[in-house]
Amino acid sequence: MAKRLQAQRLDGIDYSPRVEFVQLASEEADVVNLGQGFPDFSPPEFAVEAFQHAVSGDFMLNQYTKAFGYPPLTKILANFFGKLLGQEIDPLKNVLVTVGAYGALFTAFQALVDEGDEVIIIEPFFDCYEPMTLMAGGRPVFVSLKPSPTQKGEPDSSSNWQLDPTELASKFTSRTKAFILNTPNNPLGKVFSKEELELVASLCQQHDVVCISDEVYQWMVFDGFQHISIASLPGMWERTLTIGSAGKTFSVTGWKVGWVLGPDSLMKHLRTVHQNSIYHCATQGQAAVAQSFEREQLHFGRPSSYFVQLPQYIQRCRDHMIQSLQSMGFRPVIPQGSYFLITDISDFKNKMPDLPGAAGEPYDRRFVKWMIKNKDESTLRAMDQKLQKWKAELTP
Ligand SMILES: Cc1ncc(COP(=O)(O)O)c(C=O)c1O
Repeated sequence: MAKRLQAQRLDGIDYSPRVEFVQLASEEADVVNLGQGFPDFSPPEFAVEAFQHAVSGDFMLNQYTKAFGYPPLTKILANFFGKLLGQEIDPLKNVLVTVGAYGALFTAFQALVDEGDEVIIIEPFFDCYEPMTLMAGGRPVFVSLKPSPTQKGEPDSSSNWQLDPTELASKFTSRTKAFILNTPNNPLGKVFSKEELELVASLCQQHDVVCISDEVYQWMVFDGFQHISIASLPGMWERTLTIGSAGKTFSVTGWKVGWVLGPDSLMKHLRTVHQNSIYHCATQGQAAVAQSFEREQLHFGRPSSYFVQLPQYIQRCRDHMIQSLQSMGFRPVIPQGSYFLITDISDFKNKMPDLPGAAGEPYDRRFVKWMIKNKDESTLRAMDQKLQKWKAELTP
């Protein structure tokens, strides 16, 4: 065709590092793919049973359900999160079920961000926030978390990475429409403190800005840190969309059930996008998530709760990985939440400054590609072995 095919809104957003690296990893046998946020362990039995029940039980669960969410799911989400957020949540007006948290984010950007609107994004960030802003016609405005210096020999921690209040305030203008918060943060693992959230909240209120709060890792918080939803702070429910993911909550990322909670004044616009795009999400997955939340509500706060057990397990994995990386001479930034951690590779770079790659390609991308090509087995144990092997190779 001679005509230009792609819509202009796709300009500049066709590259995705995630797509590139997942593709590279899949081309190589037995690669250790630790780059994508999904579990390599079984979901809890109660969730699997709930899905089996949804598939083999009531035959009507094979059919469409309510457009904005399967009623038992919107009801339990309203009830469960209503208590956490200190809000009376109406399942019909304040809850929308989406195709994963990704769907929730996309719906929110499409519903609220207009041509020329500015959207503040905290760096480092989950990669889709920028293209979603651009696709909606908005302009991303970045503000970075910066590490404070650590004592020599002391490991870095994600809580050392902070926003500079003056710089943050300077990013808010009359064009700012939305602020994207992600706590616990992907990829740093930072859990924002109450003081940090209060600062964001006061700026959002002062400049009449909507806060899109991606809280998919809310149950994965370590070392006694506490997740706080910004919507629970005074004056914030009215201007916040709180986004969650059953995938991350119950370790079932393939189910792709997500949700948004918020005031009707915002949610009605998300419903407009939803009813003109997805219309409704898979019923059986929603039924299984509803039943899983009902189970969790009974066990909430007790040792038998998955929301108690999951972070303990992930924290053990985190500690294992930190040890592996440290034993190799890397300097990981210890995360206080999420599946992720980032690591300082500058010592490695000093030893191997010339990894293969395209001209101008940043060193960290070259490093990841090099890791993918130099793979071994696909478990944490394999990573240990690989790291130890590299260490031996690197020792002069
Ligand atoms: C911060 C963050 N938000 C949203 C998502 C998407 O979640 P879902 O799988 O429910 O679409 C992810 C997935 O990696 C994520 O890391």
